[in-house]
Amino acid sequence: MRQYAIKGGNPLVGEVEIGGAKNAALGIIAGALLTDETVEIENVPDLRDTAVMLEALKEVGAKIEKVDRHTIRINCANILTTKFDNDGVKRIRGSYYFAGSLLGRFKEGEVALPGGCNIGSRPVDQHMKGFRALGADVDIEHGCLVTRADALVGSHIFLDVVSVGATINLMLAAVLAQGQTYIENAAKEPHVVDVANFLNSMGAVIKGAGTDVIRIKGVEKLHGCHYSIIPDQIEAGTFMLAAAVTKGDVLIKNIIPKHMESISSKLLEIGCEVEESDDAIRVVASKPFRHTQVKTMPYPGFPTDMQPQIVVALGLADGTSIVTESIFENRFRYVDELTRLGANIKVEGNTAIIEGVNKFTGANISAPDLRAGAALVVAGLAAEGITVIDDIHYIERGYEDFPEKLASLGAEIKLVDSDEELQKFKFKVV
Ligand code: UD1
Repeated sequence: MRQYAIKGGNPLVGEVEIGGAKNAALGIIAGALLTDETVEIENVPDLRDTAVMLEALKEVGAKIEKVDRHTIRINCANILTTKFDNDGVKRIRGSYYFAGSLLGRFKEGEVALPGGCNIGSRPVDQHMKGFRALGADVDIEHGCLVTRADALVGSHIFLDVVSVGATINLMLAAVLAQGQTYIENAAKEPHVVDVANFLNSMGAVIKGAGTDVIRIKGVEKLHGCHYSIIPDQIEAGTFMLAAAVTKGDVLIKNIIPKHMESISSKLLEIGCEVEESDDAIRVVASKPFRHTQVKTMPYPGFPTDMQPQIVVALGLADGTSIVTESIFENRFRYVDELTRLGANIKVEGNTAIIEGVNKFTGANISAPDLRAGAALVVAGLAAEGITVIDDIHYIERGYEDFPEKLASLGAEIKLVDSDEELQKFKFKVV
């Protein structure tokens, strides 16, 4: 069984480079379907989720060329089918973006309903409502989201909830619709803006991405382009928290500090030092943490994908902290695992009441989903003794070279593949 073995207690010190944004990459890879010309994408993170998206494209006839580990050329001139329902597609969340780009280019598509992390019910009603507003017939048939339109016509779409997925999917469909589309109550996340910039570099006309109202003027055709994906806000935030909870000193490089403001401000509030420069942030933690309150919100609020990581830090803060999850209803499943490390947390509905403890101690735990899994790694780095984490396939969906990057900062962490390797690790570190 593949596991991460961690011997906690080392402060993380040094510099780490952040990769391209996973959630932007998923929208952008799907966007490559919108043209028959070649699209070259740089800074693509080398992750399970991006590999699944590329494999799905390849299976339907796209030509994929890996220029180097993070640069990919995609040509979707000869697409054999508009049905995307392989096993990989069913497992990840971002595969629903194929629905938008298939509808945009081919005016039809059949995409297996997405899986992804089990953090709540995650409906796709807003995606469906938006596609319908553009003139498509939309149904769920045999586990697939099926769309068909004689023509797509621009429309006013008001999203009932702020949804990253629906905003990106509707942009993908609307760029090739006739006339003007308005997406109101749109998500403003950095990766929404990045997908819009990518589509504009293919010849789309999208304005207002990053605000509540996105305006799209449909064009007849999109062309090839060369595009570099923005840095991953959540990978960067996870390293900021890892620096903080290990009482370390880490320079997190190749990031956009503006995207990190909600996280930086919480770290400052609890007593860390945070220094920003043009494309890096240094986090230094030397004092005990103060308690605080956090509520997850759509961007520019505190990201739900950083909620488990901040809970880990507050689990070690003085006093009582309150964390409210306002985006997904089932995102505290990791708390039981954190309790095994000694955390004192009570969950009531969508609120976690955290009584800070002096220290965590190592234990055997399991990653329940991607971000919670990463947070448990961060907790293990701060814990006394050895922590072993199962189900690391979740973590690998979203963090490239996670153990290697942490080890380069002085963490004792290793991916082990067998009992024998685990014993070897334990023997080496004690
Ligand atoms: C994306 C991210 C995920 C992140 C989340 C919120 C990807 C692949 N995943 O997920 O990492 O945690 O944004 O930043 O980019 N909702 C509806 N109906 C819909 C769509 C969403 O009710 O049709 C609700 C959801 O249940 C949730 C809220 O809207 O309560 C936000 O979801 P959304 O922003 O769509 O999240 P995802 O796109 O699934």
